[in-house]
Amino acid sequence: MPNRKHPMKSYITTPIYYVNGSPHIGHAYTSIVADILKRNRQALGVEMMLSTGVDEHGQKNQEAAADLGMEINAYLDMRCAEFREVFDRLGVQYDYFVRTSREGHKQAVAGMEQSIFDEGLIVKKAYTGTYCKGCEEFKKESDLTEDGQCPLHPTMKVEQTDETNYFLKMEPFREKLLQHIEDNPDFVTPTAFRNELKQMLSEPLEDLCISRPKSRVTLGVDLPFDTEFVTYVWFDALANYLTNVNWPSDGYEAWWAEVEHLIGKDILKPHGVYWPIMLMAAGLPLPKKLSVHSHWTGEGGVKMSKSIGNVVDPNEVIEMMGVDGLRWYLARHMRADSDSQISVELIRQAYNGELGNKIGNLLSRVAKFSNKNFEGKVPVAGTLTAEDETLRKTVLEAVSGLADWINLPEIPARVQAIVSAADAMNEYIDHQAPWSLFKNEETRERCGTVLYVTLDCQRMLFEALRQIIPASADKALTMLNAPKAATPWKPELDKLPGGTPLGEITALFPRVQ
Ligand code: MSP
Repeated sequence: MPNRKHPMKSYITTPIYYVNGSPHIGHAYTSIVADILKRNRQALGVEMMLSTGVDEHGQKNQEAAADLGMEINAYLDMRCAEFREVFDRLGVQYDYFVRTSREGHKQAVAGMEQSIFDEGLIVKKAYTGTYCKGCEEFKKESDLTEDGQCPLHPTMKVEQTDETNYFLKMEPFREKLLQHIEDNPDFVTPTAFRNELKQMLSEPLEDLCISRPKSRVTLGVDLPFDTEFVTYVWFDALANYLTNVNWPSDGYEAWWAEVEHLIGKDILKPHGVYWPIMLMAAGLPLPKKLSVHSHWTGEGGVKMSKSIGNVVDPNEVIEMMGVDGLRWYLARHMRADSDSQISVELIRQAYNGELGNKIGNLLSRVAKFSNKNFEGKVPVAGTLTAEDETLRKTVLEAVSGLADWINLPEIPARVQAIVSAADAMNEYIDHQAPWSLFKNEETRERCGTVLYVTLDCQRMLFEALRQIIPASADKALTMLNAPKAATPWKPELDKLPGGTPLGEITALFPRVQ
């Protein structure tokens, strides 16, 4: 696979998550795939910045604190620590953990608002409308279900509001944004979501309400031109992508030029419509890319919900199958173009079947056998046969998919290629049967060659898997006593010399019943 031309810097962002509840599998997902892309690009030698974190303002969070009877700052600190702990546990190597309650962020948001206000693009007016707290958005009648509720938050009940607020003019920017999407085919991926965004922009846009009166919401950034109001939570939250890299101070530009937002399909409108128009209004360049993913649903395709009892708790999965059991399922089993199912049982099947039977067992079998019969060392190879060369080529090609720049929708296929390579290795070993070859003095050298070929292929496989399941891959490479791979990483054959002493061999993915 030819290496794609790629930039030397990349700034990946995840959404910042509402703290009105504990982190769930959806939050874990976007932050884990962001981490996978970071590790992939870092392996290519790209300088990386990854931000993730929490969205602390708005009505929903304010009410969640009140429901627990907690003082607001204590509540935010508690939830923020909870999110951070889960991401740390999941091995998400973020460079910046966002808290929108940070003073510098709030000042920058106010600065952005003031500059847009000074341009005359913000107007004050009365508005009557339907509001969904779950989305923290005003809804049009056509957005609602037949019984008048938000399809995304049917149990939350929309509210009728009749308020005076500040609004950002959107319509003057619509054509320009559509043109930008036309001119930049990679602005939104995959194509289905690019089309969805174009659809959203096909009709005149209403002004965007960017404030909340303090009589209703106090948790937010004060409007710089009217302190009776706080900033609408989405306006404040979206600005994190700039404030994380220190905007408006010097030095943010180089990161900003390479920014890619990873988002779930539920928040395409704020990221594809509100955010670009906010940036245009503030005279700032648009993000380079919006990478959109579909959702995880419970088994049978039903939405995960506490009342159905099909919510997958990341911590529970980690207890059962380790962090890598979870990372594996999320990386390998999301479909590029539609919602995908998840349950503890589906994760368990993938863990036992793919990680255990196909990848982990092969390493144990081959490394233990070499340990026992070849003085605890990687055997020395003799002459290679056509079958050996075929396997080496297959594995080299499969792992090369991770030595190439990966975009979000491509992750599952690149991981699947690794599973296919593991299948080929298992077939090879079953066919070559080194355990039989060893029994006979004349075929013992051939036995050593087969083991060598397999162990060296496994080394390449685990080097690649450092991007997906880093802890297990490092453990495997330590068992193989493999030399540290160079950065930029390029998979190469024969980097595990015959005679290398093997480390202690333990089960990588112990079976879970
Ligand atoms: N706070 C806003 C985002 C502001 S970004 C400037 C928000 N927060 S959220 O807590 O609701 O998180 C939404 C994001 O969580 C989704 O876009 C997606 O990345 C992730 N997921 C939430 N549920 C999900 C699934 N069921 N499946 C996959 N990811 C989903 O919206």
